[in-house]
Amino acid sequence: MSLFGPLLPADVVLEEGTPEAFGDDLAQLTAAEAAAMERAVSKRRREYTAGRVLARRAAGRMGLGSVEILAGPDRAPRWPPGVVGSITHTRGHVAVALARSDRRRGLGLDVEQAAALKPRLWDAICAPEDVEMLGGYPPALRGELAKVVFSAKEAAYKAQYAVTQQYLGFAAMHIELSPTPEGNVGEFVATFRQTAGSHFRIGDRVVGRWRRVGPLLATAVALD
Ligand SMILES: CC(C)(COP(=O)(O)OP(=O)(O)OC[C@H]1O[C@@H](n2cnc3c(N)ncnc32)[C@H](O)[C@@H]1OP(=O)(O)O)[C@@H](O)C(=O)NCCC(=O)NCCS
Repeated sequence: MSLFGPLLPADVVLEEGTPEAFGDDLAQLTAAEAAAMERAVSKRRREYTAGRVLARRAAGRMGLGSVEILAGPDRAPRWPPGVVGSITHTRGHVAVALARSDRRRGLGLDVEQAAALKPRLWDAICAPEDVEMLGGYPPALRGELAKVVFSAKEAAYKAQYAVTQQYLGFAAMHIELSPTPEGNVGEFVATFRQTAGSHFRIGDRVVGRWRRVGPLLATAVALD
């Protein structure tokens, strides 16, 4: 089952899997990748390994050969020249998307457990506009849609980071959702509430898509 497939345009190369299926054997990594995981716990080794193996598969499909994907001190993956990409993982799912940088400025994927956002986190995640938007939905739906807001911000953050290399807190954007009547799939618009580098101004908008399938929530942004 492809979780992210319906959320991404056709030029984006997608690989997905289950992190638990990859195991934590560092032999699946290059020497430098494995060195970065030397002191990591088993769960972290599995998710990192799954991301790297899937990224190599995606790069292979793009004709890039066997690439090594190290991370900078900011933990963002360093993609080969000419490529943008994104990695995400949670219990039960891992996904990697790659695209050519002459076609896309950035990609952002996020997968989360779909369960409602804990009320104590609302203040940290939601801007005033988010709270107002969520208030337009029935109270029983608001917690789960607040989780969509959280995930949409992470996906939009990752996509913009490829362009700006700038850290942004959760107040930097607000999210509008357009769920279908079933409430399990839709678009979102992330609007910048502050500038980000010299590329995004207050009021600039980034469009993404979201989808819930069983226990999982996926959000994706593919910047033109
Ligand atoms: C970086 C961040 C978005 C990762 O999200 P997460 O839900 O914790 O974890 P995910 O599994 O979805 O993503 C982890 C992957 O993101 C990638 N990543 C890390 N930092 C990144 C960055 N700055 N930009 C793009 N990708 C990044 C890495 O590939 C990482 O996996 P890896 O270490 O195995 O390679 C999150 O930890 C974070 O720092 N959030 C705060 C910033 C933010 O979201 N602001 C909202 C602005 S409105």
